[in-house]
Amino acid sequence: MLQTTLAIIKPDAVARGLAGEILAAVEAEGLRPVALKMLRLSKAQAQGFYAVHKERPFFDSLMDYMSSGPVVCAALRGEDAVARYRALMGATNPTQAEPGTLRRKYGQNLEANAVHGSDCPENAAVELAYFFNALEMTE
Ligand code: TYD
Repeated sequence: MLQTTLAIIKPDAVARGLAGEILAAVEAEGLRPVALKMLRLSKAQAQGFYAVHKERPFFDSLMDYMSSGPVVCAALRGEDAVARYRALMGATNPTQAEPGTLRRKYGQNLEANAVHGSDCPENAAVELAYFFNALEMTE
């Protein structure tokens, strides 16, 4: 099924100059960017995006991290894009991610794990709408 998912290249990866390399890996996997932008989230905007985690003990630290510098957001389209991009990312903790995955290659620790990807089609729709309007997504 043709799907669109939200990918975020997180502040630590952007700061280390890895955005181009990560986007190249995404495209090599056959996932096509149909919208792309760089922005810096305020703490309030990061809180809005990660609202489901607001009771978790790591929330405040995660908000500081996600607002610490610019991120690159992409809408990725392809067959089964949600699961395929999650597979390309690897497990949340880079030390547990499979070799060759983005988090294993580029993640620094559980928090600074380089990339985000929507975990299901329903959340993908909500997350895409947080960053892009319909006019910004081509085709
Ligand atoms: P989560 O939604 O569980 O993982 P994923 O990003 O793989 O869907 O968590 C969201 C982000 O929160 C995760 O990418 C990194 C951060 N995080 C922590 O900092 N500490 C933790 O203990 C967990 C579980 C996540």
